[in-house]
Amino acid sequence: MILLMMIANHLFSQKVYHEKYRPQFHFTPFNNWCNDPNGLVYYNGQYHLFYQYNPFGNQWGHMSWGHAVSKDLLYWTHLVPAIKEENGVMIFSGSAIIDSNNSAGFGKNAMIAIYTGHTDTLQTQNIAYSINEGKTFQKYIHNPVLNLHQKDFRDPNVFWYEKNKRWIMSVSHPNEHQIEFYQSSNLKNWVSLSKFGPTGDISGVWECPDLMQVPVEGTHQKKWVLFISQNSTMQYFVGEFNGQYFINENNTPTILKQDDGLDYYAAISYHQSPYKNPITIGWLNNWNYANNIPTTPWKGIMSLPRSLSLKKSKDNYILIQQPIQQLATLRTQRFDYKEGEKIDFKGNVFEAELIFYPAAKGKSGIKLAVKNNHALDIYYDADKKIMCINRSKTNASFSKTFALMNTASAPIELQNGQLKWHIYFDNSVVEVFVNDGEKVFTVQVFPDENETGIETYATTGKIKIEKLTIWKMKSVW
Ligand code: FRU
Repeated sequence: MILLMMIANHLFSQKVYHEKYRPQFHFTPFNNWCNDPNGLVYYNGQYHLFYQYNPFGNQWGHMSWGHAVSKDLLYWTHLVPAIKEENGVMIFSGSAIIDSNNSAGFGKNAMIAIYTGHTDTLQTQNIAYSINEGKTFQKYIHNPVLNLHQKDFRDPNVFWYEKNKRWIMSVSHPNEHQIEFYQSSNLKNWVSLSKFGPTGDISGVWECPDLMQVPVEGTHQKKWVLFISQNSTMQYFVGEFNGQYFINENNTPTILKQDDGLDYYAAISYHQSPYKNPITIGWLNNWNYANNIPTTPWKGIMSLPRSLSLKKSKDNYILIQQPIQQLATLRTQRFDYKEGEKIDFKGNVFEAELIFYPAAKGKSGIKLAVKNNHALDIYYDADKKIMCINRSKTNASFSKTFALMNTASAPIELQNGQLKWHIYFDNSVVEVFVNDGEKVFTVQVFPDENETGIETYATTGKIKIEKLTIWKMKSVW
């Protein structure tokens, strides 16, 4: 009997987290639907990842906060859902803080979640507290703490503003394309400070704001950055926050995007984290087809944690995003290829660094998940001076919208004639960090198991490879 159980356990662990398309070094829930990361907070040696979760199925619905913890942002332990839908009120997105001064009176170092309570006719801001490091939460009995009697009013993100000794909340009026700022001394009574917007990209509803200070590379300076998700991409504004207003210094009408791919949304940063730079996590999916992606028994992936900084460019401060360094500990076998060598590496779970001189004309780049006529095509177009990811030659049979949304592109400047791509491919998602994080492209892709080849190419002339290193990656599951 015991032997049988051991064999069953072994078979179970072989299969779970090794299903078709299952990412191996990105976070996914054990089963069921997930969307936005919520309440990212560090406390007592642990990074908490709460997330929009459906405890009952693999489609959006019954939104609650799922919960996982990690000591290193690589390996995660799943915990039971932290805050659950109750009496028809769903738990929408929000943030969490550690109340080290007991400002709310729930206890010193209480973990407090600030979230939107959602029904079909009303969205309000609410709080829940935990005095056992996030294991269980109590909803505050006098909820809601902020009610404008509006149908759309959501995604509160709260941080401590030391200068005024106040909590600041950024919260979204989605249809007005406005973020409103509030302040509070106890997380229960909130006073409006100002509104920001509409400006920049107002093509979709505004959701999931996050206001934070980001260091400027090569200086001791920090600037305030406001991140906004607008269905289904993200934008950011750089400027100052004076305790009342956010003052945008972007050189408009330029729209600054956090990710130029098709599947990056609702990213927020860790609160009270030990890192010098903000660390963000985003949801790697797109509302236009999110419910139809062909993964089971889970849906939804979290991005690799990204470390943020700013760089001054000609007209604007530009966001620099780098995958956290400890990802390198997941590297196993290493493959180096020289100019002209055939790439014999096969696989769909790897990290790659490619430095190359693109051909002077036409398209040049790399194809991943190659087999017969199928491939994910990542290239630089020298005629248009853009970088492009094209997934039109990959499996899209599960959704017409996914099939139509098959290309992402953005202008790119070469550095001394070169391009540098840092690629993380993880079964059904790819994140490409360009020129040390000046741009990032994230897209989902659903290749078959045998579509595992890699090829570099140029349509006209020659691509010159300066460096191509590929590492197989360990699974964190
Ligand atoms: C963003 C979002 C939020 C909302 C949540 C609901 O993806 O639409 O505005 O709180 O998802 O799951």
